[in-house]
Amino acid sequence: MAVGLAARASFLFSRIQGPPRQLLASRFLGSTAVTSGPRTLPSFSMEGKVCMVTGAARGLGYEFCRAFVQSGCTSLAILDLKDEEAKSAASELATYARSSSNLNTDNLKFIGVECDVSSELSVQKAYATIMETYGRIDSVVASAGIVENYSALEYPTDRVKRLYDINVHGVFFTAREGARHMIPHGGGSIILISSMSASVVNIPQLQTPYNASKAAVKHMAASLAVEWAKTGVRVNSLSPGYMLTKLTKTVLEQDHGLKKTWESLTPMGRMGEPEDLAGAIVFLASDASKFMTGSDIRVDGGYCVI
Ligand SMILES: NC(=O)c1ccc[n+]([C@@H]2O[C@H](COP(=O)([O-])OP(=O)(O)OC[C@H]3O[C@@H](n4cnc5c(N)ncnc54)[C@H](O)[C@@H]3O)[C@@H](O)[C@H]2O)c1
Repeated sequence: MAVGLAARASFLFSRIQGPPRQLLASRFLGSTAVTSGPRTLPSFSMEGKVCMVTGAARGLGYEFCRAFVQSGCTSLAILDLKDEEAKSAASELATYARSSSNLNTDNLKFIGVECDVSSELSVQKAYATIMETYGRIDSVVASAGIVENYSALEYPTDRVKRLYDINVHGVFFTAREGARHMIPHGGGSIILISSMSASVVNIPQLQTPYNASKAAVKHMAASLAVEWAKTGVRVNSLSPGYMLTKLTKTVLEQDHGLKKTWESLTPMGRMGEPEDLAGAIVFLASDASKFMTGSDIRVDGGYCVI
């Protein structure tokens, strides 16, 4: 009986492990499949998908692009305010992709596109370039966003409006234009970058318009998800906690004790690294989440649960 169980366990284990690496490599030789490295669910693959990320010249947007490349994406549009920064990020990412032994880069096409998301015309022009280049768009990430710290009583009105123009209207233009191009092709996945600030009021820094903008983005994702559910376009949001990027570094430069405060308020005791979001963004952008729409994934080291 014990021998029978052991034999069954060993059979099951071999099923889970799958065939040896060499066998797997030879089976896929000549195809575009990844032939080495740890195996994952095929539905997480970004191979063959045309992806676009706004605010991607640096920070989280750039890291989302890297995650797509690591998951097999070879058609990628990097959007940012300055043309040369978007193009230089595209060329850096292409070099990164070519250095990856896992990727078939024969048909690699990464483009940098200038786009100010707060301008509807600028967003429409960027999509026109993408459609001209690739003919379709499958996954869109609306990551461009800004933060500023003023007390509500002192916040200059023109700056409040500018923040909403980028963080809320910019995300809306990006999502709407994406859906307009996705619907004729049967759908796609749109991810709006919100924040844990959509669900909690950060302390001690003051940022009411930012927090409200992120709550708007989270609910925008849910609302658009319902509106477009039957079209094949999925819309979800991703809500990071404190991540180390230029955005937070600017805030931290103004108060050197702040990092320690943020870390002590986070159950995991540290700020997130941008790559901590890689799994969540690929999950949402890929077919791995194909029955998921209108959801929010919070990745915050436990900040919001205490
Ligand atoms: N870093 C964090 O801790 C954190 C936490 C939660 C949510 N977020 C959100 O993640 C997103 C990215 O933040 P980040 O930390 O990478 O910021 P970042 O400042 O490092 O990068 C933002 C990028 O967006 C671009 N951008 C700014 N305004 C733009 C506009 N009008 N049009 C196009 N691009 C524009 C910038 O040029 C920059 O490349 C933001 O929406 C932010 O609110 C960040």
